[in-house]
Amino acid sequence: MEALMLLDKCRIILYNLLIFPITAIIISSSIKAFAVQQTKERVKSNFDDNWRFHLGEVKNGQNNNFKDSNWRELNLPHDWSIEGKFSKDNPAGFSGGALPGGIGWYRKSFTLPESEKDNLFFINFDGVYRDSKVWINGHYLGYRPYGYSSFQYELTPYLNYGNKKNVIAVRVDNSKQPNSRWYSGSGIYRNVWLVKTNRVYVDHWGTYITTPKVTDESANASIQIKVMNSLDQDRKVNVKTVVMNKAGEQVAEAETPALLTKKSVSEVSQDLTIKNPELWSIEDPYLYKAVTTIESDGKISDDYKTTFGVRTFEFDIKKGFFLNGKHVKIQGVCDHHDLGCLGAAVNYRAIQRQLEILKSMGCNGIRTSHNPPDPELLDLCDKMGFIVMDEAFDMWKIHKVKYDYSLDWDQWHKRDLEDMVLRDRNHPSIFLWSIGNEIPEQGDSSGITIAPELAGIIKNLDKTRPITSNCNQPGPNNYLIKSGALDMIGFSYNQNDYATFQKDYPGQKLIGSETTSAIETRGHYDMPSDSIRVWPNSKFKEMKDGNPDYTISAYDNCRVPWGETHEGALKNVMNHDFVSGMFVWTGFDYLGEPTPYRWPARSSYFGIIDLAGFPKDAYYLYKSVWTEKPVLHIFPAWNPECWTTKFNGKPNWKMGDSVDVWAYTNCDEVKLFLNGKSLVTKKKTNGELHIMWRVKYEPGTLKAIGIRDGKKIISNIDKTAGTPVRLLLKADRTTIKADGRDLSFVTVEVLDKDGTMVPYADNLVNFKVSGPGKIAGVDNGNEIDHEPFKANYRKAFNGMCLVVIQSNEKKGKINLSASSKNLEGASIVIDTE
Ligand code: GAL
Repeated sequence: MEALMLLDKCRIILYNLLIFPITAIIISSSIKAFAVQQTKERVKSNFDDNWRFHLGEVKNGQNNNFKDSNWRELNLPHDWSIEGKFSKDNPAGFSGGALPGGIGWYRKSFTLPESEKDNLFFINFDGVYRDSKVWINGHYLGYRPYGYSSFQYELTPYLNYGNKKNVIAVRVDNSKQPNSRWYSGSGIYRNVWLVKTNRVYVDHWGTYITTPKVTDESANASIQIKVMNSLDQDRKVNVKTVVMNKAGEQVAEAETPALLTKKSVSEVSQDLTIKNPELWSIEDPYLYKAVTTIESDGKISDDYKTTFGVRTFEFDIKKGFFLNGKHVKIQGVCDHHDLGCLGAAVNYRAIQRQLEILKSMGCNGIRTSHNPPDPELLDLCDKMGFIVMDEAFDMWKIHKVKYDYSLDWDQWHKRDLEDMVLRDRNHPSIFLWSIGNEIPEQGDSSGITIAPELAGIIKNLDKTRPITSNCNQPGPNNYLIKSGALDMIGFSYNQNDYATFQKDYPGQKLIGSETTSAIETRGHYDMPSDSIRVWPNSKFKEMKDGNPDYTISAYDNCRVPWGETHEGALKNVMNHDFVSGMFVWTGFDYLGEPTPYRWPARSSYFGIIDLAGFPKDAYYLYKSVWTEKPVLHIFPAWNPECWTTKFNGKPNWKMGDSVDVWAYTNCDEVKLFLNGKSLVTKKKTNGELHIMWRVKYEPGTLKAIGIRDGKKIISNIDKTAGTPVRLLLKADRTTIKADGRDLSFVTVEVLDKDGTMVPYADNLVNFKVSGPGKIAGVDNGNEIDHEPFKANYRKAFNGMCLVVIQSNEKKGKINLSASSKNLEGASIVIDTE
């Protein structure tokens, strides 16, 4: 860390850096933009609207005179795979989600006013899966194989102004399959931005803010700024940074004169002091904004904003993780990037909803398994208070599947890793860098050199966070651990080894970077609940011995061999103070990897929450342990149609048969009543995190009352449902923005005549939408459903399904109605404003 310097006293370090290859130019009178950063000096406009798309190869699709008028018009982000049909013959395989890949072309035309000829223009892609090639006006800008990297091209030299149009063309190639162990999606699936600057400007990802010294009284913020002078002459500038608090008030300022060498990037460093800093924390994720202006020739040439947070943290060898001096156990989840029925196509609200659901469970951490995430996820984690482990790769040079990133490793890994760190290092939510997941080089001697190389790449750009890697081969022979490159060891499963970790790895720190291999289907229960089933026994054996309908019990009594049940994994982390925390595999079900089944299953069973966003019972286990709020959740649903015996049995329950009732609770004890008759009052015993009763079945009402400090504080009812009679619609939000992006997630429940959800209902529900909106997707959380996600119908699964409504850009009322044969329909109004 640079030595601290007084406020307003700045060093100027000038050196020439590589200048991006100069490429092309654009601007559009027709750009319908919402600008995220709009000043006179710098305009960052969203460039997602009005693209043309063609699925399949074309010749010369990059040329301006290429006829694309019959191509489909669409707005980005776009994932063409999610629009396809599930098939076992799709080359991605069931592990990749059984959806099509292929080649796709995108083109966008736009014009730029003559008045902007003196500006510079850049196009930023947040992510394109994968092997993208980009052209502007027929000029080739570049190639980017890794589908999770964000990248920029300069357009300036190749742009037309006035009436002459510009065409940007992108070829995306996701045809070589399999290239992923999970569903990747295909296309320009993240946002695209057009950036306009003056000729002297803050470079791409050009600021880096650290807070090397923080006390209650003050925080020292150190900012490094890369300023590009693209002019033919050297230029004297004044670089000024102002730090604003949440209320927009100025709290610190620094000003530095600098001489910028022509045609090069210069670095300016400034130190600022923030008095009585507000700290970023999980409970109060306080954010500051640094506004850096470059004054050149008496005019402001750039105005660049950097969001950052002030916090201190430490991973202690004995006591685990401390944030701002306070002990915090990391209660995290791993997640892949798909958004269920929306596929990989990024949507801010859909990510926010996922994080809201996780937060309400008490989750405080996200591992971006196994790749750099969409930047909006990190923005949300900054704003909502999550501890992020930002991960770079699922493999290095040794492949996991035939056409994966290992083929690009030699040429691209340095650039991809550097770009991840440069892009992400200002996010206060990031606390750990991960150089890889279960990397095969753990067992190959090359690991001993690659790990330090990668750690060196990161340390060169950011020394403020520890480096880890998720290791599934712990032991003295693991080359990554042996290399000494890891600041913290990450264990993937292997939780029994926690007990001897401190002896086996003296002086080292541990995080449960991947834990838990519980598998569950929402709303299905196999008894006896206290018999744990582990399968498949061999990773490579075809699964033939599951339930005939491919369901898996939600009692937390099923797991795969390499991990533990939810409860087992959770206890193991809780019992070891020195383990900084855990990242459960996974928060949400994801497309692909339907272990332990194979086709026709096409999505995973690992989630605490299903693919539609509906919590499984395990959600309440975490909530009861991870939050202070009173929690009492009893299950199973009190209908024998949802139960099977010995995993393969048919529903055959009779009155008097014994049924396992579980409660997840943080109450001292729970009183249980069946049809008003009191059953045994129980507490959690033997360190268990659930309570179980064996109850003689009779239909009716099961009621639980939670007692804390001798008082009834919460109750929960589980009622036998009759046959389906009507539908109920529940929107997560009934007012959304009329911006063409915002979403309302509407849950459909199938109810009986008394309004009880029918937990086995599978009625087909049809949707009609009128007004300024459309259906963005439908789902029900069933891992084997092969109906399309882009449709106006969905079968309920275990009583529920989901329809996602998206606004267009008109204000008004969206009317959604749902109907189903022989049932009373329902409707709801969603306002757009
Ligand atoms: C882990 C791996 C994850 C996922 C998981 C399934 O070993 O890191 O990507 O495959 O197993 O249990």
